[in-house]
Amino acid sequence: MKASAPRNYITGSEIAGGRIVNLLDRAEEMKLGRPAEGASALSGKSVALIFEKPSTRTRISFEVGVAELGGNPLVLRGDEMQLSRGESVEDTARVLSRYVSAIVIRSGSHENVVKLGEYSGVPVVNALTPEFHPCQALADLLTLKQRFGGLGGLKVAYVGDGNNVARSLAVAGSLVGVEVVVAAPDGYQLEPGGPAILTDDPLEAVHGADAIYGDVWISMGDEEAADQRRNDLEGFRIDADLLAAAKAEAIVLHCLPAHPGEEITAEVLYGPQSAVWDQAENRLHAQKALLEYLLA
Ligand code: CP
Ligand code: NVA
Repeated sequence: MKASAPRNYITGSEIAGGRIVNLLDRAEEMKLGRPAEGASALSGKSVALIFEKPSTRTRISFEVGVAELGGNPLVLRGDEMQLSRGESVEDTARVLSRYVSAIVIRSGSHENVVKLGEYSGVPVVNALTPEFHPCQALADLLTLKQRFGGLGGLKVAYVGDGNNVARSLAVAGSLVGVEVVVAAPDGYQLEPGGPAILTDDPLEAVHGADAIYGDVWISMGDEEAADQRRNDLEGFRIDADLLAAAKAEAIVLHCLPAHPGEEITAEVLYGPQSAVWDQAENRLHAQKALLEYLLA
């Protein structure tokens, strides 16, 4: 039987725009008041952090974040759970819900994360699937808000592979009045009908943009097609010429890890308009605010 009232945070679309803005305000408070702000929000609570794929930022920021909120983070690799030996997602959800107050999961299967949410009695947070990366989007919005003092009316040009990061950015942006334009070549574009404006022209995308956003050309799971992808995405590198075509005060975002010289030049990644290190730090603050919202 399904748990009666699952509270999930799967795609970002299950949380209203106003709630996102409140959450970002709270993240800013937590950033300023770190580590004391919210220090007992998760007191006595454990959070399972399941990673079926590699992670640096997400795993560490969640582990540190749960600890800073007074909770107990349990970092679990997918291959050390019975899930990897065929125990069902449903049974895993039923059992974990008896131990922990929330489940954060990075998985190669979006369907499994949705199922985990359906069968858990505790909140399930998507820490990246091939389709979505909502926690990244929260940090992206926090970075934009801090750099520009607000979100409504901003334009972000995402250039490269229309992937999980692009999709979640578009969903989250649309909820708070940020226009997201995705420039990707044929075969790499987001599905039409979603919240993003789609083009195959990077120059057109960055015109009037407040931020240019990049991600890897070869996501986790895409390794077999690496050469083909590099070839197909060659015209979609973020370089100084592209940056010069955006607004003069435009910032550069990248979810990281980056491959300087591939999807973004080192000059731009490490240049004065790059906000990527603040963006990476903001993962921590945004996720702490999310956990407090879900659990406190
Ligand atoms: N941006 C991001 O999610 O990084 P990790 O894969 O290191 O967690
Ligand atoms: N699109 C990338 C994001 C990594 C944080 C991937 O899925 O591998």
